[in-house]
Amino acid sequence: MLAIETNNLTKKYKDMTAVNGINLEIKEGELFALLGTNGAGKTTTIKMLSTLIYPSSGVAKILGNDIIEDRQKIKEILNVSPQETAIAPNLSVKENLEFMAGVYEVKNKEEKINELVEMFKLNEVLSKKAKSLSGGWQRKLSIAISLINDPKILFLDEPTLGLDVIARKELWKVVEKLKGKITIILTTHYMEEAESLSDRVGIMSKGNIMEVGTTDELIKKSGAKNFEDAFVKIATGGEVE
Ligand SMILES: Nc1ncnc2c1ncn2[C@@H]1O[C@H](COP(=O)(O)OP(=O)(O)O)[C@@H](O)[C@H]1O
Ligand SMILES: [Mg+2]
Repeated sequence: MLAIETNNLTKKYKDMTAVNGINLEIKEGELFALLGTNGAGKTTTIKMLSTLIYPSSGVAKILGNDIIEDRQKIKEILNVSPQETAIAPNLSVKENLEFMAGVYEVKNKEEKINELVEMFKLNEVLSKKAKSLSGGWQRKLSIAISLINDPKILFLDEPTLGLDVIARKELWKVVEKLKGKITIILTTHYMEEAESLSDRVGIMSKGNIMEVGTTDELIKKSGAKNFEDAFVKIATGGEVE
């Protein structure tokens, strides 16, 4: 079964089309990078697929569940680490994890929290208030929280935005650990991130999916010498060489 399948998925805001009838097929276990300049429609796509907003038209299924008919089921099987890191600033790291475990009614709460603390090496910051953490730690916490309900599908919306190179590389390691175990849709502005982490990429521009493929395929197809140049060519429709 496909993890994600969309058919002419569209979101309009008044006369502005944020997502313009996209067709995507993402396989189970795949790490799919959704790329595109600011305003391309990446976050809007993620919001529709994670049932935060309704599409204007079109259809999408998450592991066979319809994003309009089966919203409750979808909330159980996916999670999102949003672009604006979603953590409670005045709660400690441990309290943040406990709080979300409560929201999701996680059964083996302590066990699950310990597993995430271990995985993200959160021990040293466990009693610190979230707002006192560095950007890198806040992001790690945000991703840890998004795994609290054992999602089959995880959306990471610009997880490394604004992080320094070391924090970024550390987050890559975390994503690499998850790779293959669950389906991940990652958005990023860093081409090297897409190249090193993803199985396939989709390039969006002005609400449209311009191309989908492996980074090597897109380099070949566009005739560019590297993936960054391929991205620029594809995202601008060949207007910038
Ligand atoms: N709630 C909204 N109301 C009106 N326009 C919106 C809203 N959310 C997003 N948009 C517009 O939709 C387009 C796509 O935005 P977005 O999905 O956030 O892009 P990306 O995540 O690729 O940067 C942008 O032009 C943005 O201004
Ligand atoms: Mg965005």
